[in-house]
Amino acid sequence: MQGKQIVLDCLNKLLAGELAARDQYMAHARMYEDMGYDKLYQHTQHEMQEETDHAHQFIRRILMLNGQPIVVPASINVGTDVPSMLKNDLATELSVRQNLKDAIKLCEAEQDYVTRLFLVEQLKDTEEDHAHWLEQQLHQIEVMGLANYLQSQL
Ligand SMILES: [Fe+2]
Ligand SMILES: [Fe+2]
Repeated sequence: MQGKQIVLDCLNKLLAGELAARDQYMAHARMYEDMGYDKLYQHTQHEMQEETDHAHQFIRRILMLNGQPIVVPASINVGTDVPSMLKNDLATELSVRQNLKDAIKLCEAEQDYVTRLFLVEQLKDTEEDHAHWLEQQLHQIEVMGLANYLQSQL
């Protein structure tokens, strides 16, 4: 089925964002492992796998619409310590969230309802899983202090 070019361009932009999220989680997962924070390592490694799955799903949808997937990640923002790593990951998720919302609006206007449905599922993962977990971690650091939080992640 032929998709509209404006929707395909938008899907490729979102694909670049998923690939960047994957790469940033990949870097952070190995940094957590190196620092000895096993719980943060395990969780972030899992998020990296989920972003990889998201990227696969975008590639499948682009191919389904007879488009050409552009498999090039957007730029990433690696943190230097645990709080900046969590904050940078949250900023990435919030930017993905906004791009997904813009894309849903576009699909609605272009009457591409199946792509719209696919994007809503991605938005649910982004909001209720990834961003929510990062917000929880930053909140825990605020209430229990960084040292206590880090001890809980060994
Ligand atoms: Fe994602
Ligand atoms: Fe995500």
